[in-house]
Amino acid sequence: MKKLIEAAQQAQKNAHAPHSNYKVGAAVLTKENTIITGCNVESSSYGLTCCAERTALYSAIAQGHNKFKELAVVTANGASPCGACRQVIWDLCGDIPIYIVDNSGKIKNTTSKELLPLAFDSNMLE
Ligand code: THU
Repeated sequence: MKKLIEAAQQAQKNAHAPHSNYKVGAAVLTKENTIITGCNVESSSYGLTCCAERTALYSAIAQGHNKFKELAVVTANGASPCGACRQVIWDLCGDIPIYIVDNSGKIKNTTSKELLPLAFDSNMLE
């Protein structure tokens, strides 16, 4: 958990957030125990921005990982993942522990299920 959070803190430094100046870092632990990181990447066309959590997960998928064990996210004020990220986390990770961390290092422990109760998912498509 400590290593995962440190990786997210490092990734936060890479955030490309010239519009909001709100830097977010994320790190996901794969089933192979690899840590993949992401940061938010903002666009001048604001809606094209990609959050740190999705950047991390999409990078992990692109690198061939498809099972995830834990996720850490770091922001200045310890904010929770947005709704879009909650859906993507649920879709790609299922119910995993999530560590939400602020810039002082304070950790909030939660899970994907707690963040997205009564989730919509692929089971509903059957
Ligand atoms: N952001 C994230 O990276 N993750 C979230 O879950 C919430 C929001 C980013 C998007 C944008 O670059 C900035 O934070 C302000 O919304």
